[in-house]
Amino acid sequence: MNPNNPPLSELSVDDPRFWETLYHNEEDHWELGSSAPPLVSHLRKDPPPKGKVAVLGCGRGHDARLFSQLGYDVWGFDFSETAINEAQKIGGDQDGHLRFECRDIFKLPEIYPAFFDVIWEYTCFCAIDPKRRPDYVQTVLQILKPGGHFLANFWPVRDGTGGPPFPVQRSEIERLFGPYFSFLTAYEPSNSVRGRQGKEWFVHARHVGY
Ligand SMILES: C[S@@+](CC[C@H](N)C(=O)[O-])C[C@H]1O[C@@H](n2cnc3c(N)ncnc32)[C@H](O)[C@@H]1O
Repeated sequence: MNPNNPPLSELSVDDPRFWETLYHNEEDHWELGSSAPPLVSHLRKDPPPKGKVAVLGCGRGHDARLFSQLGYDVWGFDFSETAINEAQKIGGDQDGHLRFECRDIFKLPEIYPAFFDVIWEYTCFCAIDPKRRPDYVQTVLQILKPGGHFLANFWPVRDGTGGPPFPVQRSEIERLFGPYFSFLTAYEPSNSVRGRQGKEWFVHARHVGY
């Protein structure tokens, strides 16, 4: 991290330096050290068909690694160089089907239009400025193939506004994604990690059109 970066209070969440500072100061309290239990159980009982997977705001890449171990072709994206370097250092790629790329997710439609069969979201939606949520939905739509699968574990699902993590409500998830996606299933996971129980909403949806 550049020592001349401004203090955190002067940085916006849209700026990768905000997240770089948190990683550098070991204030990455979201870090689980392994893949998210609700994802593990969902992929065991109701996996999307094998194909290309994008993991948005992948951090150190534990969820991307899980998809790769299960035979998916995986791209993990994060705009923090520290996160991507650490994800690459941890590795886990057996046969060239797992890559980590340092990219702003909002730029992905230019590089990967209609490219992915599956998108996985966990703790990236809550990291972006809520004003950009419609752009986030458009990003997902534009990089997903028609008929592609969107899997997300939204957190924190509660009232309120401040963040990150910026809270979301179920009604907002339905309002934002409903026009473009058919929800195959949506439920409160029973195995959320400590501190997140009762505040998560797992969605498995399919892209139905623009
Ligand atoms: C709360 S952390 C979660 C990381 C990871 N999903 C996990 O659960 O460990 C949010 C991550 O999203 C990344 N991020 C935020 N906005 C982003 C953007 N516009 N493009 C790419 N990555 C972004 C941050 O750098 C950070 O690594």
